[in-house]
Amino acid sequence: MMKIDILTVLPELLESPFTHSIMKRAQEKGLLQIRVHQLRKWAVNKYGMVDDYQYGGGAGMVMMCEPLANAIDELQQEQPYDEIIYMTPDGKPFDQRTANGLSLKGNLLIICGHYKGIDERIRQLYVTREISIGDYVLSGGELAAAVVVDAIGRLLPGVLNDETSALTDSFQDNLLAPPVYTRPADFRGEKVPDILLQGDPKKVDDWRHEQSLQRTRDRRPDLLDD
Ligand code: ADE
Repeated sequence: MMKIDILTVLPELLESPFTHSIMKRAQEKGLLQIRVHQLRKWAVNKYGMVDDYQYGGGAGMVMMCEPLANAIDELQQEQPYDEIIYMTPDGKPFDQRTANGLSLKGNLLIICGHYKGIDERIRQLYVTREISIGDYVLSGGELAAAVVVDAIGRLLPGVLNDETSALTDSFQDNLLAPPVYTRPADFRGEKVPDILLQGDPKKVDDWRHEQSLQRTRDRRPDLLDD
């Protein structure tokens, strides 16, 4: 079972993302355990202080070393982590390849940043991987962490069944997924492509591959470069 611990000052933000659909099933099947920890549990004073003004001046608070270090040390004693991940807009852009790689790991700890981020020394001393989910700034790392956990969780062996298989996802082979159709065969005069109605699996496969290629060329030619 993969275990993912998340450290955050806003655990409420992570209450619902994992309680539905595929993430719910992954946990019910015992394939994935997600625990969300309130960082203030390791605050430096009774007021729950976990951030402070930045040295050198400037607007915005910085998340302090001690609460994070103490939290990580304590959690690490329960179980060692294969990766300690920090969610940050200056991290490496997240993609399907990274999700595939992380889905093969054992235990993960994810740190959600807030304010101006975490003290640089925590990044040097503890963090093994820094991830951005895109070139925009969120008000905290929680939604980004939810994205990463969802992308990893659905790849764990046994989580998806035939209907939800990850093998035909966009990006899984550096191509976008082909268009899909369901009933009715004619909707307001817009017809489902004949090939899909004829039931020749080889022709359907070829058509889908061609559509994938065309879509990728039109929308994401950058994916064809690697
Ligand atoms: N925290 C704030 N913005 C973020 C982003 N784009 N990716 C990951 N973590 C973040």
